[in-house]
Amino acid sequence: MARDLSIPVETRILPVSSDNLGHFENPQNLYTWRVNISQGSDSVRHLREAAGALRSRESPVGFPTETVYGLGADATRSGAVKGIYAAKGRPSDNPLIIHVADLSMLDSILRGERHDSTQTQERSQSQLLPEIYKPVIERFWPGPLTILLKNPMQTVLAPEVTAGLSTFGVRMPASPLARSLIKLVEAPLAAPSANASTKPSPTTAQHVLEDLDGRIELILDGGPCSVGVESTVVDGLSDPPVVLRPGGVSIDELRACPGWGNVQKAYKDAAELGKEAPRAPGMKYKHYSPKAKVVLYEATFADGRQGVLSEDIKAFRREWSAAREGSSKQGPRIGIIRTRFWGPGGGIGPTETTSESFVARAGTDMQGAVDLEIKQIKPTNGALGNGAEDILDISIGADTRSIAKGLFSALRELDRRGADIIFVEGTLDDEDIGAAVMNRLRKAASQVRA
Ligand code: TXA
Ligand code: MG
Repeated sequence: MARDLSIPVETRILPVSSDNLGHFENPQNLYTWRVNISQGSDSVRHLREAAGALRSRESPVGFPTETVYGLGADATRSGAVKGIYAAKGRPSDNPLIIHVADLSMLDSILRGERHDSTQTQERSQSQLLPEIYKPVIERFWPGPLTILLKNPMQTVLAPEVTAGLSTFGVRMPASPLARSLIKLVEAPLAAPSANASTKPSPTTAQHVLEDLDGRIELILDGGPCSVGVESTVVDGLSDPPVVLRPGGVSIDELRACPGWGNVQKAYKDAAELGKEAPRAPGMKYKHYSPKAKVVLYEATFADGRQGVLSEDIKAFRREWSAAREGSSKQGPRIGIIRTRFWGPGGGIGPTETTSESFVARAGTDMQGAVDLEIKQIKPTNGALGNGAEDILDISIGADTRSIAKGLFSALRELDRRGADIIFVEGTLDDEDIGAAVMNRLRKAASQVRA
């Protein structure tokens, strides 16, 4: 029976270092991932505790992958998978991605067999894997690419994973920590991002705790994620193949693979959204959203329209005061997230910094995390009117990879500091993984300036 979520549990964070956790027997074919269990470290002890819980209990476990933190459950047990939907408050008609440790595990699923890790014999490359996927698996696995496959008739996957569809989505994460956890469970893990439904995805263990404290028992902490946005989801079973969700592998990288030259977009990008009616201000899109209202500036707009941000900030402050009829002495808390073109304060004019601090974001790699710098700034020329409050200003970098790494952390940090509105400078869809960044931002925004 599923746990009663109205009674909070104690949520524990267990640190795990990725050093020396295991290896592929043959890195060329990714067939067998071996966990270094003889290593008697705390990391292995923590991994084993989490794996034990995943095998026997119904409470999902938070764990890092290279994209975002996942909320994992044994994909072969219905009760365990239901625990994910309950903990997240996620509608159950949305299918979940499963994660495998190695190709031998995927092979077992395609054969409709339970995974048996004592079966060490390497079988010939499975005939069950469609040809179209071989070049992309070779190029991007382990990594941020999810492929759709036909669910076999006699499947080991719980029906709650696929939400009634005839296909399932699967990936092999680049994180050795994630692969070792899966290997110790000896079953694929179903795992959506470990945020509460509608919130920005988590890229640190702390983010998971913020959302799910008291709702899950364990979070493995492997440090900040290295990519910062979710995997790219592709359907190679349709002809031509399509990208269902842009993510950590760009469409240009996919196009370079044999059979994928004509891959199509099955999601809405700037061009598609441009054909739609303009979005009404205040309309709330419940996805990847902080509590604050998000206003997104398309990169092309942010580039050419100096001064528009200060006008927008002034207008928001007027609305804010009018709605409160002078009853509030404090003005709104304003947050700014900058990428390529905007200077401090988004170019509202000269500013002074009143305080600065740092917060962890996704790192360049699991070890060398790069922090985000948050500045509290004040316009010095009265550009926003007298008595304007400090603005919270975060630069998440100029190149697309660093923007992807910092995005969710920056949204969450401004929320934590009580921002009422966040103005975000966008990036370009066709630059590397910019499509993934803009896809998430357009969903988080209640207003898009283009
Ligand atoms: O990077 C990621 O992919 C993260 C980390 C934790 O691995 N996981 C993640 O999972 O984002 P989730 O469950 O939140 O995303 C699942 C996405 C959804 O957009 C869903 O619609 C699509 O994959 N999906 C999954 N199975 C599908 C299927 N059989 N057919 C079509 N879409 C599917
Ligand atoms: Mg998600």
